Amino acid sequence: MTNKTAIVTGVSHPKGIGRAIAIALAKSGVNVVATDLKSSEGFDTVVSEIESYGVKALAIACDVTNKNDINVVVEQVKSTFGRIDILVNNAGVGLGSGDFLEITDKDWSISLAVNVKGVADFCQAVIPTMLAQGSGSIINTASLAGLGAMTDIPASYTASKFAVVGLTKQLAVQYAKSGIRVNAICPGSIHTQMHDLVLDNISKGNNISLAEAQKLEDSNVPLGFTAKPDVVGDAVAYLASDGARYITGITMPVAGGMFPGL
Ligand SMILES: NC(=O)c1ccc[n+]([C@@H]2O[C@H](COP(=O)([O-])OP(=O)(O)OC[C@H]3O[C@@H](n4cnc5c(N)ncnc54)[C@H](O)[C@@H]3O)[C@@H](O)[C@H]2O)c1
Repeated sequence: MTNKTAIVTGVSHPKGIGRAIAIALAKSGVNVVATDLKSSEGFDTVVSEIESYGVKALAIACDVTNKNDINVVVEQVKSTFGRIDILVNNAGVGLGSGDFLEITDKDWSISLAVNVKGVADFCQAVIPTMLAQGSGSIINTASLAGLGAMTDIPASYTASKFAVVGLTKQLAVQYAKSGIRVNAICPGSIHTQMHDLVLDNISKGNNISLAEAQKLEDSNVPLGFTAKPDVVGDAVAYLASDGARYITGITMPVAGGMFPGL
């Protein structure tokens, strides 16, 4: 994918899914514009890590709930690289209790602002450039929790990820004839900081230790283990590539066969 340029959101965390996506794209020859909250851990090392794969990289601070931040990123990418081939909306939050009655207004508003509106706003900001190019690939990070409801996952999270799936399919239908493919990936159980919150909910919900919660989680994965973020990076790099040129509107589980629930 040499000479292509990607924007990836939520990239800074060294062990997060966003970083793994950025690295997988870089390994495929894509120049990567990494964005995240400026305060986020790992923001200062992201450019050197991506560039170590022989591509160009930029790191731009961007809160996806701030449209002005998004527009600054898009303008800077266009002026530096001249095009936007790939957008990966990866930034997300996993706020809220597994107990519905404990979810706060703040949990709802942040979950919807980051996981849903932030994705929609970034799509709206890049699509005019992709339309002018006559091509583009957008990959939204939903979740297995966007395909079904699972025990101990906050309802605010599940609802937000169902919305990402709906948004993805609607945009796929609208822009298919313009050469823009829009797909979603649906990770299952992936070792990251966010996954620690899931384990915490499982542990509290079942009154078991964190180690037991991890065992319980793994027992729900047919492949038998919670994966590292690189499995998601590889799936995104495939969906972004020409190999996936006839694929749009899908919601691809990257979940070791785990069942999405109800
Ligand atoms: N880890 C899992 O098991 C799992 C499973 C399914 C889906 N996901 C999804 O994968 C994505 C990445 O999650 P992760 O597990 O790497 O978690 P993570 O917490 O390590 O990464 C999330 C990133 O999003 C960034 N972010 C949060 N709010 C933001 C905002 N307002 N603007 C810009 N960036 C913001 C954070 O700074 C962080 O770098 C998320 O969308 C998450 O919902 C994760």
